[in-house]
Amino acid sequence: MTSSTGDDHTEHKAWWKSAIIYQIYPTSFFDSNGDGIGDLNGIASKLDYIKDLGVTVIWLSPIYKSPLADMGYDIADYRQIDPRYGTLEDWDRLLKGVHEREMKLMMDLVVNHTSDEHEWFISSSSSKSSPKRGWYIWRPPRTDNKTGVPNNWKSMFEGSVWQYHQETEEYYLHLWDKKQPDLNWENEDVREAVWDVMKFWLDRGCDGFRMDVINVISKTPGLPDAPITDPGEEYQPGTNDSPLSPSLSYPYSSRILLLYLLMNSPRVHEFLREMHTKVLSHYPTITVGETPFTHDPNVLAEYTLPKNNELMMVFPFELMHVDTPLAEGKPQGQATGNKGEGEVVAERAELMYREWKLDELKKIVEKWQLLKMREGYWSGVYIENHDQARSVSRFGNDSSDELQVHSAKGLAVWHVSMRGTCYVYQGQELGLKNAPRSWGIENFLDVASRNWYDKILEQRRKSTGEANPNMDDIMEGIHMKARDHARMPMPVSVLWSSSPNAGFTTGTPWMKVNDDYERWNAASQVGNDDSVLAFWKKALRVRKEYEVLVYGNFTLLAPTHQQLFAYTRKMRNGTVGLVVMNYSKEEVVVDVPKDLTGLQEGGEGYNELGLRCVLSNAGGDSEGESLKEKMVLKPYDARLYISTQ
Ligand code: NOJ
Repeated sequence: MTSSTGDDHTEHKAWWKSAIIYQIYPTSFFDSNGDGIGDLNGIASKLDYIKDLGVTVIWLSPIYKSPLADMGYDIADYRQIDPRYGTLEDWDRLLKGVHEREMKLMMDLVVNHTSDEHEWFISSSSSKSSPKRGWYIWRPPRTDNKTGVPNNWKSMFEGSVWQYHQETEEYYLHLWDKKQPDLNWENEDVREAVWDVMKFWLDRGCDGFRMDVINVISKTPGLPDAPITDPGEEYQPGTNDSPLSPSLSYPYSSRILLLYLLMNSPRVHEFLREMHTKVLSHYPTITVGETPFTHDPNVLAEYTLPKNNELMMVFPFELMHVDTPLAEGKPQGQATGNKGEGEVVAERAELMYREWKLDELKKIVEKWQLLKMREGYWSGVYIENHDQARSVSRFGNDSSDELQVHSAKGLAVWHVSMRGTCYVYQGQELGLKNAPRSWGIENFLDVASRNWYDKILEQRRKSTGEANPNMDDIMEGIHMKARDHARMPMPVSVLWSSSPNAGFTTGTPWMKVNDDYERWNAASQVGNDDSVLAFWKKALRVRKEYEVLVYGNFTLLAPTHQQLFAYTRKMRNGTVGLVVMNYSKEEVVVDVPKDLTGLQEGGEGYNELGLRCVLSNAGGDSEGESLKEKMVLKPYDARLYISTQ
């Protein structure tokens, strides 16, 4: 290679950028004691499987004491393991096993809110004069509206964000369920208590944190009403980007108001810098912030830029909304450019589904891949987690076993070739799909799915006068996108074998296992060279072998093509990675010089790059082949080439 291929990200190298992080949803991973719920000893017994996959860091979703109103994201004691999952001694043993295998362990830090059963809230709600009253966000009833609720904000789980507390005659704020009261981060004692919790786990040996909804810990001063953007609704989403109602006037421009209502509010960066100074800078940690409702890249970048000393990386959410219907006039992926205008995209009707087009998806991917590379912005790259449906059902094709295997492997090629740290969610490595269409609402247990369904049902009963109004569109969305799909024992947990209940438990599983578990399980894939699991293992090896996949600059090729998803990754030292994927049900013939013109940028002839295929789901001899002028890609074929010169 002679010519320079431009910029890359190598001046910000760090071990955690090339880490492979495996997320475990403990409730559904593996049950070791037959009570139907996954546990720490179950996880400990499968560490060799995880290590063998190529994982270097494990992230555990919450295992703390909890009434499980939101599956553990409602914590009643930050220093205790919930007995369903085990004991602190079990956790110590798990940590030892993880470290012995040279992996690291991250915990989930859920500190925007606690459970209402946490002793802090019990004290806070005991009386207005409790020393902990100011630890949560309490407001007296308003006298200038019908209901008395302090403002019109809508909860993420439907209804108001305010819950009236009879005994002390005030409301408390809960952005999620009423059993998840929000902590008041303005209160210094709250922050000190959070730092102590973090130190407790770090001193015990934990290697870092995934931080739950960390961009909402600071709220807009005065908690002003949200603009009326859903006129038919009693409560309004503070995360909506629709224009302000002309009848309302605010002291801020609409953009500032929206950004400042729930998330990315004035003091959030100050709080995170304090966290860094007081805790993180004293330990060799790995951190990732969950940062929903924010599609403005410049707003999100602030959390991870090295100069700011806050977090190492964040999870952008925009891709997870490519299939969400948006407010009129806002085509997906075009809502914001990469120009830094402040904008927050509507996430109401998150559980509704729309068909997405490939160019929309590519535009979003490009936007985040290009973001502030030189300044050091870094993403956590994911297409699945416990809040998202299965990627093969959403972005691939699960209409037959054959296509499911093939497209799941294709998704792996995409996933391992993105700039950002690679996150794999339990079961993704097996290509597991969503629950079947035959499942009715009674099989969906998540509070988000149920509250959404119940709200619309009630609205339709009122508007139609029918006891059983048509809910097909709502079920369509739930079948495509509900969080439950990822939470089934092995979608919620790894299906360890085809024995009853998928080998997940000897008892009765807490949630129904997927109907296809006899064919789709870990046991049938371990040792099978053609399996999705074997492909993922290879894909992760390739990711580790070629630095260009971690640090290379990203260039999207063929941006408007509706079947081809292709891009290059390039290093300053001349190494080139090329990814070419067919994201459609039809065969595609790729004329390389014509369709992938960006490959020749800088005067290079594409065939002088010496590109050789190192990963392909097409089988045969496709791996090892040099790039040809014409390529025939079958549906969901995906190939990754690396330059040899
Ligand atoms: C984000 C978590 O990932 C989700 O599962 C939870 O419901 C909310 N935060 C509230 O904690």
